[in-house]
Amino acid sequence: GKPPNLFAFNTADELAVGLRAFVIDAQNSALDRHGIFRVGVSGGSLPKVLAKALLGKVDGDNPLDFSKWEIFFADERAVPLDHDDSNYKAVKEELLDKIPTELGTPIVHPIDVKYLDDIQEMADQYEQTLVRSFAARDSVRTPMFDLLLLGCGPDGHTCSLFPGSPLLRDDSAWVLPISDSPKPPPKRITLSLPVAGHGIKIGFVATGAGKKEIMRQIFDTEEGHQLPCGLVNGLGQERVSWFVDYPAVEGVAFP
Ligand code: 6PG
Repeated sequence: GKPPNLFAFNTADELAVGLRAFVIDAQNSALDRHGIFRVGVSGGSLPKVLAKALLGKVDGDNPLDFSKWEIFFADERAVPLDHDDSNYKAVKEELLDKIPTELGTPIVHPIDVKYLDDIQEMADQYEQTLVRSFAARDSVRTPMFDLLLLGCGPDGHTCSLFPGSPLLRDDSAWVLPISDSPKPPPKRITLSLPVAGHGIKIGFVATGAGKKEIMRQIFDTEEGHQLPCGLVNGLGQERVSWFVDYPAVEGVAFP
């Protein structure tokens, strides 16, 4: 069915403006609610798009307060933090290193590289990182990120939840290991599906003509609803917003 909140833009610059407003809104309501803003981010093209959204020049006061941000990784590859495949590295280089000091410094939670050779342990440890931040405050069964920023792969994967993966049925943990990711590198950790669908706000970003076939499937077909992106979209309901460019949604009917 039609995504409740679909925002389509002509250019990357316009998408950045729209995404910025969405993030600021999520930040402000989180700060009103509990004085901290807990964000989960993906890799792929997302860190660059996010940096464009957040680092642009603004007239007047900048409402971003990174000193209140706590950044987690929705999925991460089991590689050293300075490896080119590291999502942490992408977020650091695109965004963190460029945040003007007057906007404050976020708390960032990278994976613990002690466990690169044991991804089950790496996933368990990352879950403990979430428990320390979330359970202490809310004592919840499923952590609820204030904002999850996700991508959608051309096969319909999101986080490192791939189509047909048994991980999609695994709700036994908040964070799961994967050792055979079809998108390299193979060894990763990922939020489990119930957690990925449980943000107060969830923003998907999908751009480029390479996404139009998967966008059509996800919004126009029953099978698409069962793909990882479609499942998160369904779990999140009206809490989900899609930020796309026109080439990514060309020909999508949104019935
Ligand atoms: C990863 C990403 C992954 C990504 C999608 C979409 O680490 O592999 O987190 O889930 O979000 O593959 O990537 P693009 O936005 O680059 O198409």
